[in-house]
Amino acid sequence: MSDPRHTLRARFDHAIVTAFGSHHAGTDPLLRRSQQARFGDYQANVAMSLSKRLGSNPRDVAAAIVANLDVAGVCEAVDVAGPGFVNLTLRADYLGAELGATAAEERLGVLPAETAETVVVDYSAPNVAKEMHVGHLRSTIIGDALVRVLELLGHNVIRQNHLGDWGTPFGMLIEHLVDLGEEEAAHELSVGDLDGFYRQAQAKFNADPAFAERARLRVVALQSGDRQTLGLWGLLVRESNRYFAAVYERLGVTLTDRDLCPESFYNPMLTDVALELESKGLAWLDDGALCAFPPGFAGREGEPLPLIVRKRDGGYGYAATDLAAVRYRARELGATRLVYVVGSPQSQHLAMVFATAGQAGWLESSRAEHVAFGSVLGPDGKMFKTRSGETVKLGALLDEAVERAASVVAEKSPHLDGAERAEVARAVGVGAVKYADLANDRVKDYVFDWDRMLAMDGNTAPYLQYARARVRSIFRRSGEAGPVVDGSAVAIVDPAERALALDLLSFDEAVRSTAELSAPHRLCTYLFGLASSFTTFYERCPVLRADTDEQRRSRLVLCDLTARALQSGLGLLGIQAPDRM
Ligand code: ARG
Repeated sequence: MSDPRHTLRARFDHAIVTAFGSHHAGTDPLLRRSQQARFGDYQANVAMSLSKRLGSNPRDVAAAIVANLDVAGVCEAVDVAGPGFVNLTLRADYLGAELGATAAEERLGVLPAETAETVVVDYSAPNVAKEMHVGHLRSTIIGDALVRVLELLGHNVIRQNHLGDWGTPFGMLIEHLVDLGEEEAAHELSVGDLDGFYRQAQAKFNADPAFAERARLRVVALQSGDRQTLGLWGLLVRESNRYFAAVYERLGVTLTDRDLCPESFYNPMLTDVALELESKGLAWLDDGALCAFPPGFAGREGEPLPLIVRKRDGGYGYAATDLAAVRYRARELGATRLVYVVGSPQSQHLAMVFATAGQAGWLESSRAEHVAFGSVLGPDGKMFKTRSGETVKLGALLDEAVERAASVVAEKSPHLDGAERAEVARAVGVGAVKYADLANDRVKDYVFDWDRMLAMDGNTAPYLQYARARVRSIFRRSGEAGPVVDGSAVAIVDPAERALALDLLSFDEAVRSTAELSAPHRLCTYLFGLASSFTTFYERCPVLRADTDEQRRSRLVLCDLTARALQSGLGLLGIQAPDRM
């Protein structure tokens, strides 16, 4: 246990129970880091909320808690301030011992979750024969950070790439494939010109009635399982997947072919899903279509809004597949938490799917959660597009990122040789794109801005990467392979050492809140704060030229912990941290 708040929570619990009775057991002491040194290291705000429940004065409540609070060996001072804040200042030797213990363990104080869950994370989910757009990029980056964090906490994570591989457009796509010939089509798709292929098919469909008719017949053949048609469809899926896999590889994303669980996977379950909803009285025919009407969803005129389970022509669509997926994930995969990393425009769709699944009893022992995100905007504040108004190709985007990063690296790190420079440029370029996406509260839109994301100062990947590389260079210059980590205490003397120590011991909390709120920006904010504390520390506290050997050793442990927390944190975000920059 390295975060002092774990200990403090237990001690507050004891004090609150002693002062006010056992029915107050488990009250959250509401510990926060103090914003100013004169308010100590942490502030407990529990007296304010508890006093409301007790009907008494918050200052008296705070005093009663403090009178029963045993923090011997942990705190050097405990004061009641203002309306009833409890300010806590830790003992330097306690902090030092916790840091020493943290340095000696691999997990840097990150505790496994109390209950390990099976968590399904639905992310990326591009569509076959269509270019991945920036929305898919966001889903991929955010989802991949979340799975890494959840796994570190010991959860059983099941990645589900809900690939869009089914639906009426496949009629025209397959006919276009037939016209082109398999070889030519495979070539076009494998070079990543997915949108070109799609647009040509669409254009023919609109212009040529005979083609449109063939496309319609093709949909029927596909749905009825015609073998030749399925073979052609399989080619489209395979070639698209090859392209997606290449993008994942370049992005350093953990998704593999094993995580593909495409829409078509659910086809055999759709009739049964419809039957179950119908028999439970949750869906009925409305103008020929089978619809569910989950309560609480109304159209513009207040009319109940339908979720279409089966269309009038008998076909099943996106909603039916998602209903089947909820049922499958909860029942067959045994997930207790279902995470959907999908853009905000699909909020209503997912809310209706979750509500209907809830009514059907499929979510009795699981909770479904829409991890929504906003749009990526161009510098003009409009949707991020290429200059000619087309979807930005992810491959080209990453090429540009690495190219731009290369000039940053050439300027900042002229001492690196060519090969190393190229590798650093890759890490910096791809890292910058990912970090810029993760660092903002995901529900907000953000502006895609090359200069800002590649800046060496501010809340950016390059800043964190350079900060870590700088610490590594201290070790190279120290002539030691690493710090002497023997579990012995770290000496906390300077206020900058104290501030850095408190940050280091907060890694667990940053990881935990990122997982709980599905909010990677929490981790980013933490890492940025840590790197900033390190910078202040390094300016004020000489490390290699410390006054005594003991101090030098102690400060090297702080350096080492910082480098490891930055590396581990960036790793959780899916970002590489080069040793030398
Ligand atoms: N393929 C969909 C799209 O591109 C995203 C799928 C999201 N996941 C889901 N279970 N609906 O919009």
